[in-house]
Amino acid sequence: MATEPQDKRSGGWSRRRFLTAGAVAGAGAVAAVAADHVLQGSLRSGKEAATTATQLSGDNSRLTFGRQTVSFDGPVQAGVTIQPQAHTRLMAFDLVESVDRGAIRRLMRLLTDDARSLMRGVAPLGDSEPELATVPAHLTVTVGVGARLIRVAAGESFVPGWLRPLPTFGIDRLRDEWSGGDLVVEVASDDLVAMSHAARLVTKSIRSLAVVRWMQDGFRHAYGTHPEGTSMRNLFGQIDGTVNPVPGTDDFAEVVISRDGWLAGGTSLVVRRIQMDLDTWDDIDRVGREAAVGRRLATGAPLTGTTEHDEPDFDAADSLGFTVIPDFSHMRRARSENRRERIFRRSANYEVMDQHGRPESGQIFMSYQADPVTQFVPIQRRLDELDMLNEWTTPIGSAVFAILPGCGPEGMLGETLF
Ligand code: HEM
Repeated sequence: MATEPQDKRSGGWSRRRFLTAGAVAGAGAVAAVAADHVLQGSLRSGKEAATTATQLSGDNSRLTFGRQTVSFDGPVQAGVTIQPQAHTRLMAFDLVESVDRGAIRRLMRLLTDDARSLMRGVAPLGDSEPELATVPAHLTVTVGVGARLIRVAAGESFVPGWLRPLPTFGIDRLRDEWSGGDLVVEVASDDLVAMSHAARLVTKSIRSLAVVRWMQDGFRHAYGTHPEGTSMRNLFGQIDGTVNPVPGTDDFAEVVISRDGWLAGGTSLVVRRIQMDLDTWDDIDRVGREAAVGRRLATGAPLTGTTEHDEPDFDAADSLGFTVIPDFSHMRRARSENRRERIFRRSANYEVMDQHGRPESGQIFMSYQADPVTQFVPIQRRLDELDMLNEWTTPIGSAVFAILPGCGPEGMLGETLF
């Protein structure tokens, strides 16, 4: 099944022809096509072989999306609003002790120059691997700050009231190694090499001013595997991200973007590293899994609907009088009557080896909202009290940052702090 789209892209190459061409099943589509191309090419004239090569390259967008760029300049940093890329790296830094206001200004200048250049697909000054910058594949570099950085740069009165660690929740098993930070940089791209290169460059540029505190890598579906705008699937197999404000709308601006003083055009980012126990999740049948969230696994539709974006009917009851969408389901508990208590979720999956050498899976939960204390915290409180998903999920990291406003072509990130 997985080879179907590849068959289409490679100009009518059927799966059967693929296999009869001598390709080893499982060796990967690219290797198989290449192997067959060599075989066929040796039997044909140069021109025929060239035609085959063109056919084999298939859908050219596969080759050209690597050059596609996202504009750095704008009132809101692009990484908050664009369709989430396949790969994301969140890096939190601690400022070195000696940092003062002047050093923070330098730090912002460096980050701005790096981000602007890398997002254009141009190697910034001092890039020792400049070739790696030329395929940005929708690269974004997004910068946020913690309270200490704001204090040093501009003074206590500039620190938003909400910029502090979240309250402690009963479900939390937080680890220092995944929490806190004075500065956060999210580097995201549809190409892993571009992401890795940009992340290294940023880290190199600022290493005399800030040291890495934690780094989290997340992934979503590869670019081109789903139509634009499709919600991702998390590692429980659920469609995740359905109920979200839509970037570009007034509603989004209202829920997500700050209008306050120096932060106008910025927002807040809550990062929660949440382990997901896939082994015990495996023990639950499909009915139980769908009840846990209140939505169908196949379509993401609410249990009372048929398509993903159908409005759920929380009052609908079955013949025994039980609500069709259980009161303990994640969706029911996360939903508030208060329209202000909404957030913009833009999470990614992760998979690593845990400290005991066992595979660990989870979600890098990321939510943006104008004010986490009045928007995120009430939701998390309700989920903390009761949420069927808590059975399989454990928050192990937590951090809150102020995402800086965007800036114009001549501007610098954080300029309103100075
Ligand atoms: C690993 C942890 C989590 C998983 C697997 C998860 C999964 C999901 C899924 C599958 C949905 C339904 C589809 C959708 O609207 O996206 C959903 C909805 C939602 N989740 Fe989560 N979630 C997690 C953590 C959280 C956390 C920590 C919060 C916030 C504190 C949260 C807030 C929400 C909200 C606000 C909705 C939309 C509810 C509505 O329908 O109005 N989730 N989540």
